[in-house]
Amino acid sequence: MGLKENIQSMMTQVQGLKAVNAEELEALRIKYLSKKGEITALFNEFREVPNEQKRELGQLLNQLRQETESRIAALKEQIAQSQEARAERLDLTRTPDPIALGTRHPLSLVREEIIDIFSRIGFTVAEGPEVEDDKHVYGMLNFAPEHPARDMQDTFFIEKEKGVQKPTDVLLRSHTSSVQTRVMTNQKPPIRVLCPGRVYRNEAISARAHCFFHQVEGLYIDKNVSFADLREALLYFSKEMFGPETKIRLRPSYFPFTEPSAEMDISCDLCGGKGCSFCKGTGWVEILGCGMVDPNVLEACGIDSKQYSGYAFGMGVERIANLKYRVKDLRLFSENDVRFLRQFESC
Ligand code: DAH
Repeated sequence: MGLKENIQSMMTQVQGLKAVNAEELEALRIKYLSKKGEITALFNEFREVPNEQKRELGQLLNQLRQETESRIAALKEQIAQSQEARAERLDLTRTPDPIALGTRHPLSLVREEIIDIFSRIGFTVAEGPEVEDDKHVYGMLNFAPEHPARDMQDTFFIEKEKGVQKPTDVLLRSHTSSVQTRVMTNQKPPIRVLCPGRVYRNEAISARAHCFFHQVEGLYIDKNVSFADLREALLYFSKEMFGPETKIRLRPSYFPFTEPSAEMDISCDLCGGKGCSFCKGTGWVEILGCGMVDPNVLEACGIDSKQYSGYAFGMGVERIANLKYRVKDLRLFSENDVRFLRQFESC
C-alpha cells in the first residue's frame, strides 16, 4: 500500500475514534499524535516521497492531522459533559437509606432475662466447652457407666482421627450440668453460678424436639444450703419471669447428680390454673429439673460433702421462650426466618 492509501485508511479510522474517559483519550493521543505515533510515522515517510507528489500528499497529511486533533478535542468535550451530568445526578445532600438493623433473637432475650433475674440474688455466669468428654458430662455427675439415665441423654460422639470410628469419649455435651463439674473442680465454695449454653441430643427433629437446644444451669454450694433455699430461689425466679401471681410446685423426680431430685411446674398463666388445652387440663406446666447436689458429685469434684451442701437446677431456654411468647414449633428458633425474628423487635 502506498502512502496515499495509508493516509486515507487512517482517516477513516480516526473519524470513528471513541473514548469514554480521560485515560482512554490520552492513549489515543499517544497512539496517533505523539513523537512515536502513527501519524508522525506517516510524516516521516512523506520525506522520502518524490517532489511531484509532495503537494498532494502534504495536503492530505495535514488534513489527517487536523482531523485527528479535532476528533480528540470533540471526544474530550464529550467526556467532560458526561462527567458533569453524573455529578449533577449525584445529590450529596440526600438523606441516605436507613441501615437495616437486625433484632435480638428471642432465645437471647430469654437467656439474658434469666441471667438478669438470678444476678440480682448473687449469681454470676460461668461457661464451659460444648465439645466435652464423658467424664465431665456423665462420669463426675454420678452417671454409672451402663446406667439407663445415659440413654435419656444420648448425644453425638466425635471421631478422634478422621474416618476412624473407634470408641471415643469425646462428645457434644448433652446438658450444661457439665459446667458444674468444671466450676466445682476449679473454685472453692461458696459457689453461686449460672451456666448458660447450647446442648446437643441424639433426637429426631420435630416441633417438640431438636438435636440442639439451650439450657441455663444454676448451682449454689455453701455451708447449710437446704432444699428450702432451692424452693425459695425458684419461687423468686418464677414470679420475676412469669408475673407475681405465679405459683410453683415441686414433684419428686430422678437425676443421677441430685438427691433428692424434683421437677418444677409453674401454674398455667393461660387459664390461671383452672386447666386448659395448653396445660393439658392440669393447670400446671413443667419448666425445669432441680435438686440437692448428690454428695458423690461434690466428692468427685474435690469438695468435702460433710462440710458443704448445695442445690442445682437446669432449665431449657426454648421451653421458657415457648411459654413467654407462645411459640408452638421449636424449629422456628433456628430457621433464621426474619418474618419470625422481626416479631420480637419490641421485646
Ligand atoms: N441436666 C438436666 C437435663 O438436661 C437438667 C437438670 C436437672 C439440671 C436437675 C440440674 C438439676 O442441675 O439439678 O435434663
